[in-house]
Amino acid sequence: MLRRRLLAALAVPAMAALAAFAPLGAQAQNTFPTRSITVLVPFAAGGPTDTVTRLVAEVMGRDLGQPMVVENVGGAGGTLGAARVAQAKPDGYYLLLHHIGMGTTPSLYRRLSYDAVNGFEPVGLVTEVPMTIIARKDIPANNLQELVALIRKEGTGLNYAHAGVGAASHLCGLLLQTAVGTQMTTVPYRGTGPAMTDLIGGTVDLMCDQTTNTTEHIRAGAVRAFAVTTPQRLPSLPDLPTTAEAGLPGMEVTVWHALYAPKGTPADVVNRLSRALQVALRDEKLVARFADLGTAPVAQERATPEAARAFWQADIAKWRPIIEAAGQYAD
Ligand code: MLT
Repeated sequence: MLRRRLLAALAVPAMAALAAFAPLGAQAQNTFPTRSITVLVPFAAGGPTDTVTRLVAEVMGRDLGQPMVVENVGGAGGTLGAARVAQAKPDGYYLLLHHIGMGTTPSLYRRLSYDAVNGFEPVGLVTEVPMTIIARKDIPANNLQELVALIRKEGTGLNYAHAGVGAASHLCGLLLQTAVGTQMTTVPYRGTGPAMTDLIGGTVDLMCDQTTNTTEHIRAGAVRAFAVTTPQRLPSLPDLPTTAEAGLPGMEVTVWHALYAPKGTPADVVNRLSRALQVALRDEKLVARFADLGTAPVAQERATPEAARAFWQADIAKWRPIIEAAGQYAD
């Protein structure tokens, strides 16, 4: 009896000692997360990245048993927010949900306070979102051909809104101006959420933004839509022609999004987050809401650290020669 009690008494400190020497990842697997997690959106609230993040964070939080709080840090095309996460403690409690800007930033910005190529542990891809060319509702153009003619006539007399150099709305604006062969005056915002407010108010003339931000405003008639930047029309906006149908073939772009933790976050923590992301992307309500906003979650096997890393690095490699050839940098 005494021997058994002694063994039991020794076993507890021995287990505690062993736990103290266990790798951080192994501890995390058992305990993570023990408190709320913050997901940083590197653009203003109310925009497309914010919308996607809030939908995903709510379901992920339920699976993780802890709330996921969304924080918006907009500015400098998403690099201010990305820097904040890259420099955060790598413990899984401060994450970044960012988009195609993760592929363009390393080439567009030559002076950054963080490592834009290796400074993150990808958790998984989230979605790929189509874009729409839209304008203030009283713009004097009834279709894309008339809009192109107006851009050619007015040039810098028209204001094109975007979310900073490297933002999706900026890239789409570059494609549009290149396709039309005319420059407009560009107006940067901290995100297309506030840019949309000004477009609806008529302060700016045009924008190209993701369907996750534009769909409801198009349906409500608050802005005028000219085309969607995908090869096929969207079931959510069936009357909207594709860019090819409307007269700008080749002007196709979708905006990929992924979730990241800071570099050095233990693999077990990243994997736990990835499993929660996969659960979120299977959630029926989330899938339905995404569909209503013109998008869909990625396939489950793409919501993994490996798939996200491969896609991110390939996108960096894809954009580098394009940006270097254009010789246009953000700094
Ligand atoms: C946003 O969330 O504001 C957008 O994703 C910005 C953009 O990239 O156009």
